[in-house]
Amino acid sequence: MLLQDPENIFNEKIDQEVKIEPKDWMPETYRKTNIRQISQHAHSEIVGMLPEGAWITRAPSLKRKAILIAKVQDEAGHGLYLYSATETLGITREQTINDLHSGKAKYSSIFNYPTLTWADIGAIGWLVDGAAILNQVMLTRTSYGPYARAMVRICKEESFHQRQGFEILLTLSNGTADQKAMCQDAINRWWWPSLMMFGPKDSESTNSDQSMKWKIKRKTNDELRQNFVDMCAEQVKVLGMKLPDEKLKWNPDTKHYDWGEINWDEFWDVVKGNGPCNKERIGARKKAWEDGAWVREAAAVYAEKRKKKLQVA
Ligand SMILES: [Fe+2]
Ligand SMILES: [Fe+2]
Repeated sequence: MLLQDPENIFNEKIDQEVKIEPKDWMPETYRKTNIRQISQHAHSEIVGMLPEGAWITRAPSLKRKAILIAKVQDEAGHGLYLYSATETLGITREQTINDLHSGKAKYSSIFNYPTLTWADIGAIGWLVDGAAILNQVMLTRTSYGPYARAMVRICKEESFHQRQGFEILLTLSNGTADQKAMCQDAINRWWWPSLMMFGPKDSESTNSDQSMKWKIKRKTNDELRQNFVDMCAEQVKVLGMKLPDEKLKWNPDTKHYDWGEINWDEFWDVVKGNGPCNKERIGARKKAWEDGAWVREAAAVYAEKRKKKLQVA
C-alpha cells in the first residue's frame, strides 16, 4: 500500500472544507501564520480592555456601569479562548505574552487611540466592535478548527457589544446640543481608525494571498472594509449624524458606497509604535503581568499539591 503524502492529505482537507486539527500534519508556514494571527487577535482582545476599562468608574449611571463591566469582561474571555487556541499550535502562553511585551507581536492599532469622552465608549462599540464582527464572522469558517470554534461564541458576544455601543450613541443623539456634538465628535475621531482595522490595501498586504489559499481568510481586507462602509453609511442615518468623509456617496452602478482615502501614513506610524497611546498600553500590560506573578506562582504550587494528594489517595 502506498503511504499518502501528509501534504496531500492536508491540501485535500483544505479543499474539502475539513478543519485542520492540532495533531494533524500541517505546513510549518501554516502553523506560523496561525500562531501570528491568533495570538495577535488574543492580544487585541486583552489590550482592547484598556481604553474602555478607563470609563468603568466614570460611566454615567449604574446601568451603564454594569453593561460596560460585562462588556470588558467578555473581552477578557475572548482573549482567554484565543490564547488557548494559540497554545494548541505548540507555543506556550508565556512565549506569546513575551512577544507582545517585547513589541515583536502586534495587536490591533485601534487601541492606541485614547477614549476622551463617554461618547467614545459608544463609538467603540458601534464602530470598533462592528468592524471586528465582520472579520470574526468570516473567521467562524477559518480552516484551523480551534480558531473557528472559538469564533462562534465570540461572535455572539460581539453583536451584543455593537448594539450596546449603538444604543449609547442613539441616546446621546437624542439628547441636548452638547450631547449631540459629543456624539458627532466621537464618530469623527473613531471613523478612520476603524477603517484601518481591516489592515493594508489588498495590493499591499503581504500575507493575504497565501491565507486565502489556505482558507484562513475568506474575504480580502478591501472586501471586508467595503462591507463595513456600506453598513455604517446606512446606520449613521438612524443616529442623525454624519461620517467624516466628504466623498461618501452611494454608487448605483457598483451598488456600494464610494468613499475617500485612508491616511496610510498615520496607519503605518501607529503600527510602528508611534500612536497616541502605544507606550501606555504596553506599559499597562507589562505591569499587569508583573503584578500577577504571585497569583501564577500560588496557582502552580496549589496545582502541584493537588497532584500529590491525588497520587497518595
Ligand atoms: Fe472581543
Ligand atoms: Fe467586543
